[in-house]
Amino acid sequence: MRKISERIKELPLSPHRQLVAKVDELRRRGRTVYNYSAGQPGLPPDQEALKIFYENVMKNPFDHFRYMGSQGLLKLREAISEDLRKYGGIEVNPDNIAVVTGGIDGIILTLYAITDPGDEILLFDPCYSMYWGAVKFLKLKPKACRESVDSGFQPDPECIKELVSSKTAAIFFASPDNPTSRVISEEVAKTVADLAVEKKIWIVYDVAYKHIIYEGHHIWMEKYVSDPEILINIASFSKDIAIPGGRLGYVYGPREVIKEIVKLKGYLSITAPVPMQWFAYYYLSSGLKEKYLRGALEVYKKRRDAAYEAFRKYLPEAKVWKPPASMYLFPDMSAYLERLGMNDIDFTFKLAESKAVVMLPGSIFGEAGKNHIRVTFVTQPEEKLEKGIQLLAEFINELEKE
Ligand SMILES: Cc1ncc(COP(=O)(O)O)c(C=O)c1O
Repeated sequence: MRKISERIKELPLSPHRQLVAKVDELRRRGRTVYNYSAGQPGLPPDQEALKIFYENVMKNPFDHFRYMGSQGLLKLREAISEDLRKYGGIEVNPDNIAVVTGGIDGIILTLYAITDPGDEILLFDPCYSMYWGAVKFLKLKPKACRESVDSGFQPDPECIKELVSSKTAAIFFASPDNPTSRVISEEVAKTVADLAVEKKIWIVYDVAYKHIIYEGHHIWMEKYVSDPEILINIASFSKDIAIPGGRLGYVYGPREVIKEIVKLKGYLSITAPVPMQWFAYYYLSSGLKEKYLRGALEVYKKRRDAAYEAFRKYLPEAKVWKPPASMYLFPDMSAYLERLGMNDIDFTFKLAESKAVVMLPGSIFGEAGKNHIRVTFVTQPEEKLEKGIQLLAEFINELEKE
């Protein structure tokens, strides 16, 4: 019998990936694209780090392209351990770190390792669109606490307490967040930590944006949990050292989980990309990460301010919040979309086609994201950012006149 798996057929094609691909299609057709879609860092990786990498590759190509153990390059895991000590003041043994093929790989491997079909998982809605796909693929039952712009996208601690039960496998969330860019409050961190310890459940903490913070500081959940054995962190090199196409990240947590992740990684892809593991090692061990981040954050902050001001100026009815971190504005566009009688998915596809302005529909991030749009503010310079938002306003005006 020749067939396509039901499990795969049930998984919807993500509008997220479709719209990111749309950018390339529009460019091929010769359009000037205003790209607010992927969470693409706005600056290339550091020149000096690239130079060190190339010199070392030329000196010893064999070592940079060989197979290696599934847990990842020991030198990189040691450099990560040092990095965690430096930034978070936390001690993590390199044996408790698994190098993975980007945060998304870390998410799938972790959820595979700690859940079985039918287990409940608590998410905050809206959340990174891939969470919903992963949860569906693994046949987990999502429960969700909604967040809204009116409360700075903080989840309600009472909701968290209400939804966690003996059937919950994990509380899974990101901070700083995608798509809302909020950093969780200390109250939420404490609620999650206490509840997870009390109910003996996992905290799966996605820290892909831990270094992309403009005001305030990252919440290190290690500081809130009384038992470190319940915490699994998933980190990415896509944002902080700007190698999203390099596909590299890491998971750190209890040895029993890391062991299973490494076992599964060995079956699925053997290792994370080896050249990139060396690249990240050079970046971290040379102090270039600090230098790169200082420059990048300065640029991103100006872009955030420009995008926020442009929304205030051109789209006064949008409910927009200026976030302290991450890469995205997540304005509530209900006032406009309800008047147009259009949903956010149709709207963003039409906007891309009509004005070559590519933004993501909020509803792919969850029910609570309905009528929002996600606007990446780090990728383009200020003038282009503002121009695209002006075109968005123009598009709405044109539709209103139709
Ligand atoms: C919250 C969050 N987690 C994880 C990822 C995955 O990142 P990557 O697989 O590129 O490391 C992203 C990507 O944008 C994200 O926004």
